[in-house]
Amino acid sequence: MSDYKDTDLDQNIKKSDIVSQKHLRHFLDIEDLPKSLILDILDLAESFAGVSGQPVKKVPLLRGKTIVNLFFEASTRTRTTFELAAKRLSADFLNINIDYSATKKGETLLDTLRNLEAMHCDMFIVRHPSSGAAKFISKNVSQNISIINAGDGRHAHPTQAMLDIFTIRKYFPDFKKIKVAIVGDILHSRVARSLMHALRILEVPDIRVIGPQTLLPKGIEYMGVTPYVDMDKGIKDCDVVIMLRLQNERMNSSFIPDEHEYYNLYGFSPKRLDLISKKGIVMHPGPVNRGVEISSEVADGNRSVILQQVSNGIAVRMAILSLSMQP
Ligand code: NCD
Repeated sequence: MSDYKDTDLDQNIKKSDIVSQKHLRHFLDIEDLPKSLILDILDLAESFAGVSGQPVKKVPLLRGKTIVNLFFEASTRTRTTFELAAKRLSADFLNINIDYSATKKGETLLDTLRNLEAMHCDMFIVRHPSSGAAKFISKNVSQNISIINAGDGRHAHPTQAMLDIFTIRKYFPDFKKIKVAIVGDILHSRVARSLMHALRILEVPDIRVIGPQTLLPKGIEYMGVTPYVDMDKGIKDCDVVIMLRLQNERMNSSFIPDEHEYYNLYGFSPKRLDLISKKGIVMHPGPVNRGVEISSEVADGNRSVILQQVSNGIAVRMAILSLSMQP
């Protein structure tokens, strides 16, 4: 990606990306979204949740619009739930597999974009290994195209955070009363970063991040969270525990001794279920590495809401696509 500058890293969503309380130009990050807009998106998603249960799983909201999945990084859940969300809104939908695209033949990202623009697409859903890539693309497409960030490097994964809080609200409607822990590779996780922002905006009073010192960013307290290196202490009495995968593809050196040792210290084993609150739930954005960060018994057990997160992803993404589409 020769035309991408690292100075674009970690730039926040600009206020100008929020066109009005009910309309977004792009959906790039969560950290500057007003609480009221986040709650509106959750409510809108609630109204879309019924569509997936209907015999005809479609509403005509985005008929005549063209949405393109532009994925420069592997994905299963995110890519497919965006595709289903777009199709359930009746949009025309295209999956561009970058492995087979001209980018592999040396075409620059901007040239690829110009060509897609020439095909009169209305929205690009972008996943990219570089932090700031979605922002960069949003600055370089024409006015009438919306960009949705489907995960950029270790920076942000705002639609995942939205579906996570949507899932939490099903079990705990009052965000101001819960304790939430995020466990694992906080350092490399865009999911953790977006979630911390979302939980802070929703005024969750007790947000904990748990992991080995090497995987906890220095100064993380500034995000309004409490760090723990001891998992048993960290998850004690929590209502929600979100487990994360080790992002081996983003590590350039060894951050943990070995996976067996990691499981003993930070894996969600069945006996750790006794430590969380009685009605506590276990979440995971996927892909799950069984026996590394979570045991099969917990992942498949009755406190796990992992597959509900996947289903909820469709309704939440329908809400975000419909709010971001230019009229
Ligand atoms: C996450 C991602 O890609 O950031 N997964 C997802 O979107 N469902 C988390 C991960 O890869 O570990």
